[in-house]
This record gives sequence, structure tokens and C-alpha cells, in this order.
Amino acid sequence: MWSRSIFLFPAVVLATLRIEDPSNVISPKLWAADNAIVPDYSIPVVLTQPSPIKAIHKVNGESSSAEHLTWSATANDTSVLLVSNNATFSGSHLKIVKSGYSSNLYDASFWGFNAAVNVANASTAKFDHVNVTVHNGAAQFYSYGEDTIVEVNNAWLYSSGPVSHGLYASGYGTIIGRNIQVYSGGKRSSSFSGDSPVGHVYVYDSIAHAAGIGSATFYALGDIYGENVLGLSEMGPVVFSDGGNTINLINCDCTAGLLGGVAMFSDAQRQSGATLNLTNTKFTTTGAEMPGLWFGNVVADVTLSNSQLVTHSGILVVANYSAITQSFDYYAGYSDNSNLLPAEVTISVTESDLMGDLVAYNGSYISWSLGGYSRWKGAAYSGYGEAIFDVSLDATSHWTLTRDTYIRNFTDSLVSLDNVQSQGHTLYYNATVSTWLKGKTVRLSGGGSAKPLSSSSSDDKSSGRRWNA
Ligand SMILES: *[C@@H]1O[C@H](CO)[C@@H](O)[C@H](O)[C@H]1NC(C)=O
Ligand SMILES: *[C@@H]1O[C@H](CO)[C@@H](O)[C@H](O)[C@H]1NC(C)=O
Ligand SMILES: *[C@@H]1O[C@H](CO)[C@@H](O)[C@H](O)[C@H]1NC(C)=O
Ligand SMILES: *[C@@H]1O[C@H](CO)[C@@H](O)[C@H](O)[C@H]1NC(C)=O
Ligand SMILES: *[C@@H]1O[C@H](CO)[C@@H](O)[C@H](O)[C@H]1NC(C)=O
Ligand SMILES: *[C@@H]1O[C@H](CO)[C@@H](O)[C@H](O)[C@H]1NC(C)=O
Ligand SMILES: *[C@@H]1O[C@H](CO)[C@@H](O)[C@H](O)[C@H]1NC(C)=O
Ligand SMILES: *[C@@H]1O[C@H](CO)[C@@H](O)[C@H](O)[C@H]1NC(C)=O
Ligand SMILES: *[C@@H]1O[C@H](CO)[C@@H](O)[C@H](O)[C@H]1NC(C)=O
Repeated sequence: MWSRSIFLFPAVVLATLRIEDPSNVISPKLWAADNAIVPDYSIPVVLTQPSPIKAIHKVNGESSSAEHLTWSATANDTSVLLVSNNATFSGSHLKIVKSGYSSNLYDASFWGFNAAVNVANASTAKFDHVNVTVHNGAAQFYSYGEDTIVEVNNAWLYSSGPVSHGLYASGYGTIIGRNIQVYSGGKRSSSFSGDSPVGHVYVYDSIAHAAGIGSATFYALGDIYGENVLGLSEMGPVVFSDGGNTINLINCDCTAGLLGGVAMFSDAQRQSGATLNLTNTKFTTTGAEMPGLWFGNVVADVTLSNSQLVTHSGILVVANYSAITQSFDYYAGYSDNSNLLPAEVTISVTESDLMGDLVAYNGSYISWSLGGYSRWKGAAYSGYGEAIFDVSLDATSHWTLTRDTYIRNFTDSLVSLDNVQSQGHTLYYNATVSTWLKGKTVRLSGGGSAKPLSSSSSDDKSSGRRWNA
């Protein structure tokens, strides 16, 4: 093969485009002990801010600016800069160096204790050309409170240690990043993160690399907007989403190494209203069993527009009776969360070419609509127990089956079903629901057929309720 390609393309030199991130400058190996720290959230949850936030530099209720300075802090639970209480701050060409641990991770997560930069309580801050290095586990930029807006432009962010999110917003705060390069080596250190109850996170033109378990490119609690983001989450998904959050990614190219391209769930009662919108976006999942999109204990609406899901597993979507726990490294069952319900996912695909399967578990549901010249090569089947699938195709879209598939509500704008290539497989449909097919058997190109499967029929293998289980 080699000699043949060389013969065919003698002038082509293949090269790899190397993208730098801060871990190319400061080796994570130097900070392995920090990165091995397991974050301890098995402490009482704190519901109100316990004490004033400690910081070396404070801007309180006033307007201030700084440039061409190096600022640092080394103590535990101490920020380098705190901008709070209707303050405004503008900083440029700042180098910020922070070490010191968080003694209470709820204080760190909910109020930004120990963050390198904390902007709180109706304050606005703008940063341009900033270089932030943190160790021992500290967030880099934290935005807290309804009217707080933090803008971070041209930033280089390096962290070691747990819970070191790059851009972090909570308490309805907003954070906006442009031209960010961020690396985190620790556990639960997502590049761009929202937290309780809601954070608004916007990221443009950025490079994100997260290495630890539980660290995603985007962690959604609230809403996430990402545009032109190149991301790698070695031990997490591109997106974690806990609850009914909204995620819009445009022109992103992100790789995930654990759980799924997205892991969307609800940590307690099943939430609805989760929305994922991928436009001109590519997700690559590297794990042998990782789907492109994973859903558990949530009701979600998904739009894939001119987007790609490249999986090594051959699984595009999983909908499961499951959730993700605080350890962020496995699909949990009932014993971890007694509130579980099946996932219900509605996915609209346009202008996309997708290869792989839809897999639903234990009562979960996937609705899959192909429109706008989309192509799908794959099948749908149960991972465990009852699995419900509805599939619809418009006249411009095509489906190539890769195994027998049972669909509850099958609709096709081409009554001839000419846009379904069977490859010899059978497309079973529920005649009670897919009434327009009038219970007929329709021959498909490629030798197979579409056939009714009714619950009363004697050869209905599994009554459609336990299909391929
Ligand atoms: C900010 O200013 C507004 C109006 O001036 C005031 O109502 C509010 O209490 C102030 N908030 C804080 C956190 O200081
Ligand atoms: C800072 O936190 C670390 C890790 O928990 C602890 O070992 C150290 O004693 C703390 N330092 C102080 C001054 O409390
Ligand atoms: C924000 O306001 C609350 C309520 O007034 C106060 O308890 C808290 O200390 C303030 N936060 C900061 C960082 O000043
Ligand atoms: C930021 O600071 C770190 C640590 O001092 C340094 O190694 C790195 O080169 C700096 N990054 C940029 C873009 O200047
Ligand atoms: C999804 O993204 C497209 C393209 O940016 C946009 O037009 C559409 O409004 C988005 N949908 C939602 C639900 O946000
Ligand atoms: C599905 O959920 C069960 C727990 O209910 C879990 O054991 C299994 O690993 C999950 N599989 C996938 C692919 O999500
Ligand atoms: C399947 O769902 C039922 C509830 O309908 C639940 O009791 C059971 O634990 C689930 N099993 C798995 C493996 O998810
Ligand atoms: C079946 O799917 C089509 C297309 O999405 C929809 O219009 C119709 O209402 C569905 N029928 C049932 C019974 O769910
Ligand atoms: C077809 O759908 C009807 C209505 O949802 C349901 O009662 C029946 O069990 C289904 N048949 C099969 C074979 O799944």
C-alpha cells in the first residue's frame, strides 16, 4: 500500500498541523502530584456565602484599572484579585500567578473562593492580554452574580490541581472569552464552565485542552455558546450538561476521551428542556465504547446542522436509563440515583452525513429526523430492555441500513421509500403508529423490505419491546 500511494502521489508530503496549548510550555509532568489530587466534595453543602472572600488586590464598589503588572497570591482560599459590589475594572498585560489550596470546594464552586480572579456582585471587568498560571487547584476567572459581566481577551491560562476551571460563571454571572488558550491538568477542571444555579458562558476563537477525569471542554449549568473552539478533553466529554441547559456550538472541532462527545444528564430528578445545537461542528470520540452523543435521565432536543460525529465505537447516540455521578467516569444506574427515568431525545439532522447506530436502553426513546440532504448509514437497536425509535426522512435524505431495525413511527416523504437502501436488511415498523404505510410490505432497494410488526402478530420476535436486547 505504501509503495502504491507513493507511486500515485509522489509529490504529496503529508504533514501534521501542530496546535500549541499551554501544556506545551509548562509540562504537566512537573505538576503530577497536583493533578492527582482527588477533589473532596463529601463535605456539608454550604448554601450561603460563609465569610468575606480573601484577596490580595481588591476593587470594591469603585472603578479601577491596572496594566503591565505581575500579581500573585500563595495562601489557601485567597484570590489574587477581587472585583466586587458594583465595581468596574480594566486590566491589560497582566501576569497573574496563583498557588494555594481550596479548603472547601463548595465555597470555591459557588462563590469563587480561591479563584485567581473573582468578579462578583454586579461588577464588570475587562481583561486583555493576560497570562494566568495557577497551581494546587484554583479557578482562573470567576464571574458571580446576575449583573456581573467578565470579558477576557487574549489570555493564556495554565492550571494544575483539581477544580481549576479556566472561565467559570455561577450565580447567574456572565463570562465572555475571546482568543483564549487554556490547559488544565487536574480533575474536574473544565475549560469553560457554568455552576449553580446558572452561569452564562460565551467563548470565541479559542483552544482548550483538559486532561483530568471530569474535565470537559464545556460544562453547562445554564447556557454555553462556543464559536471556533478547538478542544481536547482527554478524560471527559466535549460537553457535560447537568439539567435543562442550552448549548450552542458553531464551527467547533472537539475531541473527547471519556463517556461521550456530550454527556447530558440530570443529577437528581429528570429535567427537560436540555437543548444542544451543533452547527458546522465536528466531534471525535476516541474510546472504544463512546458514543458521539450520550443522554441519561434527561429530556433533550438536539439539532445537528452540517455537523460530524466521528466515533471509534460506531455508535452515534445513546439514550439510557442512567446518569453521571460526581466521580464523572462511568454511566451510573439506579443504585446511584433512585430518581432515574429513561432518556427521551429528539434529534433533527440537516445537511449532515452520519455513520453509526442509535442505541436506547430500558425504556429510553430516540426520535431521529433526517432532512436537508442528510445521509445516515446505520441502524437502531436496544442496548437493554425496551427501546423506542421514531425515524423520519424528507425526500432529499437517505438512509442505508446496516442491520434489521424496528421503528415505532417511521415516516418518509418519499412514499416509494426509494431513499432507503436496505443492504438486505428489514425495516420493521409499528403498523398501529405508522398508519400511512397501511400495513403493507414494501420492497426496498438492496433486497430487503419494510414490514409491519404489530403487537398481535405471532412472529413479532420481541413484541418490539425487547429488540435485540
Ligand atoms: C449596586 O448599585 C445599585 C444601584 O446603584 C444598588 O441598588 C445595588 O444594591 C448595588 N449592589 C451592590 C452589590 O453593591
Ligand atoms: C493549605 O492547604 C493545604 C492542603 O489542604 C494544607 O496542607 C495546608 O496546611 C494549608 N495551609 C494553611 C496555612 O492552612
Ligand atoms: C456579595 O453580596 C453579598 C450580599 O450582600 C455579600 O454577602 C457578599 O459578601 C458579597 N460578595 C463579595 C465578593 O463582596
Ligand atoms: C505565561 O507565563 C508562563 C509562566 O511564567 C510562561 O511560561 C509562558 O510562556 C507565558 N505565556 C505567554 C503566552 O507569554
Ligand atoms: C442553532 O444554531 C443555528 C445556527 O447558529 C441558529 O440559527 C439556531 O437559532 C440555533 N437554535 C437554537 C435552538 O438555539
Ligand atoms: C446504561 O445504563 C446502565 C445503568 O442503568 C449502565 O450500567 C450501562 O453501562 C449504561 N450503558 C451505556 C452505554 O450508557
Ligand atoms: C430499568 O428500569 C427499571 C425501571 O423501569 C429499573 O427498576 C431498573 O433498575 C432498570 N435497569 C437497568 C439495568 O437500567
Ligand atoms: C410520526 O412522525 C411524524 C413525523 O415526525 C409526525 O408528523 C406524526 O405526528 C408522528 N405520529 C405519531 C403517531 O407519533
Ligand atoms: C405499536 O405501538 C402501539 C401504540 O404505541 C403499542 O401499543 C404496540 O405495543 C406497538 N407494537 C409493537 C409491536 O411494538
